[in-house]
Amino acid sequence: MEKIRQFINILTIAISNCSLYSNDHELVDEYAKKVMSLIQEVMEDTLEIMVIEGDLIVNKIPLRDAGLHGVKLLRRMQRKGITRIAFSQGVTLSEVREFIVDMSRFDSPPKTYHHIRTGTVDIHLDERKTREMGVDLDYITHEQIQKVKEIYYGISPFKRLQIAGLEEIVSSFILAFHREANILKLLTPVRSQDEYIYTHATNVAVLSMFQAESLGIKGKLLHDIGISALLHDVGKLVISREMLNRPTPAYTEEATKMKQHPIYGAVYLSKIEGLTRLAPIVAFEHHMRYDGTGYPRYSSGKRGQHPCSQMVAIADFFDTLRSIRLYQRKWEIKDILAVMKMNAGRDFNPSLVDNFARTLLLATSG
Ligand SMILES: [Fe+2]
Ligand SMILES: [Fe+2]
Repeated sequence: MEKIRQFINILTIAISNCSLYSNDHELVDEYAKKVMSLIQEVMEDTLEIMVIEGDLIVNKIPLRDAGLHGVKLLRRMQRKGITRIAFSQGVTLSEVREFIVDMSRFDSPPKTYHHIRTGTVDIHLDERKTREMGVDLDYITHEQIQKVKEIYYGISPFKRLQIAGLEEIVSSFILAFHREANILKLLTPVRSQDEYIYTHATNVAVLSMFQAESLGIKGKLLHDIGISALLHDVGKLVISREMLNRPTPAYTEEATKMKQHPIYGAVYLSKIEGLTRLAPIVAFEHHMRYDGTGYPRYSSGKRGQHPCSQMVAIADFFDTLRSIRLYQRKWEIKDILAVMKMNAGRDFNPSLVDNFARTLLLATSG
């Protein structure tokens, strides 16, 4: 991890310094060599840097407390409109040098080189798989997804939230669990970019209730968890409808604005009569971390995340990684679980991560 941090630091310093010198300055060569030697040290099959939900992720490991250089690199990537950079085996010094020069300029879009690819993290569009899986998808029907869509798009400070509709959706999810044990078959693939927000909401609700049921939670609390999970991201609707269908904001300003969505969501939900009190709590806390970091923070100091928010945070992270595709490759379930386990105790409640991984593997092995 230390080497990865060093790599990020040197790469950022190289890019910043390069903007001060002319392209052919010998210092640019010197920095390129340093970056090149660190790439060789930290390279696995590839070396990937991604920005997901405002975090820098290097080789699938979230770089928490990335420091000043990490934040600078993240901002620079966002200003260039990219959310991923991948170096592959065989990368040459001249490619690294050109890439550093390229990244140091704000006036041009980033280029892609033979062994260095730049771009954005995509939501995967799984249309073919969807058709193949036709029967399985009947567990969560198209109509149910449409209902979530209607409720999500009907949300406005001027309209009443359809609480009865939410109850109905959550009840149908519970029925689906009892008909199909393999939870992964209940998750809906993202079929188009503009379906992302409500498909994600549906999947987060299914995954949160799946965890809660495995812990013996039932009845009203199980319903309340499902409703709260369905509504966890409603604050995004208040911010911008255009931004909704991108899992990662493209620009720094967007990212900063987006970080306010837990607050907007909690304020909106706390005003709705008849809605479970858990919903504003989960909306407010789903980006907080187990160790007390994350966002937003409670002004009163040490209050930790509610256990239901911890379950939703696990479901949220799992579904976000499951829905993105890197260079035509989807994240394997085992890789997502490995990242979660690595960050258990800091980002996530370790007992809940263990329970999630164990129950998921059990449910999918039969
Ligand atoms: Fe969120
Ligand atoms: Fe989310």
